[in-house]
Amino acid sequence: MPKVKKIGILTSGGDSPGMNACIRAVVRAAVYHGIGVVGIMRGYAGLIKGEIFEMDVSSVSNIIQRGGTILKTARSEEFKTKEGMAKAAENLSGWSVDGLVAIGGDGTYRGASELSRDWEIAVVGVPGTIDNDIYGTDFTIGYDTATNIALDAVDRIRDTATSHERIFFIEVMGRESGFIALDVGVAGGAEAIMIPEQPTDIDGMSKILIEGRKRGKTSSIVIVAEGDEAGGAYAIAEKVKEKTKLEYRVTVLGHIQRGGSPTVRDRILASKLGAAAVEALKDGISKVMVGEVHGKVEFTPLEAIWTHKKEVDMNLYKLAEMLSI
Ligand code: F6P
Repeated sequence: MPKVKKIGILTSGGDSPGMNACIRAVVRAAVYHGIGVVGIMRGYAGLIKGEIFEMDVSSVSNIIQRGGTILKTARSEEFKTKEGMAKAAENLSGWSVDGLVAIGGDGTYRGASELSRDWEIAVVGVPGTIDNDIYGTDFTIGYDTATNIALDAVDRIRDTATSHERIFFIEVMGRESGFIALDVGVAGGAEAIMIPEQPTDIDGMSKILIEGRKRGKTSSIVIVAEGDEAGGAYAIAEKVKEKTKLEYRVTVLGHIQRGGSPTVRDRILASKLGAAAVEALKDGISKVMVGEVHGKVEFTPLEAIWTHKKEVDMNLYKLAEMLSI
């Protein structure tokens, strides 16, 4: 691909803490390298509507510490149609944009990949999602913040669970993957962790909880990934109650996990990957996602992102079992 002259930047899918730090890095790296940059509001939906504006260094002042995304975000069905995509490409060319940085999850890259295939626009994806379920990067932007927010909630719930000697089922986000649940479960000393990658064993879990009680445990925390096959924390809690007769409460953490100021790790990851995305486009690299693997920036072809599944660390799952006795 020829080197780009003007970059468009958008955020798409669920927002994640650190997206603003990434937008800042893209804009400032582009300016640094003498490349023009425009912002696109509301992801692909805004691109179709022509919600595009010029950005400069001051457009991204004072945002590195802010959660959410100043560019807003959306999930667009229209972009999946031929007409929608044609309109999006027309709007980019009307603004002389020849390179696109798309920050989001795998749905974001599918859109970018098709745009690039049909319309000769260079595209680079940046992994921004709290779920950490993206192949080609050890961590996604927002994951560190989300897991720390969830962990803080688990610690607080542990206090009240201990006082009342109750079992708590805490449901965390993660779409179809258990990254958040597993890390938060291990770090929060959970008695059990339910993730989509493992079959749900109600009998086994009930036994663990009853035996824990017999050994003198005064509280029990079960972390449930929202994508777990057994149908969420409420359904699992009821099934366990039938077996154990123990009193329980359920907390669904929900969107609180997506907000708030990004951690140091997320801000640094976002800054590195945003700048690397611009440098890739500057060097004529396209149709890749920029990620960080073992501390190094790496490019992965966009198609590989949805043809490969990133696996959770099952050793961590076993460790949680061993340490929760
Ligand atoms: O992908 C991020 C995420 O927060 C998932 O963890 C969750 O399943 C989903 O988005 C929730 O989406 P929405 O904000 O549309 O309810």
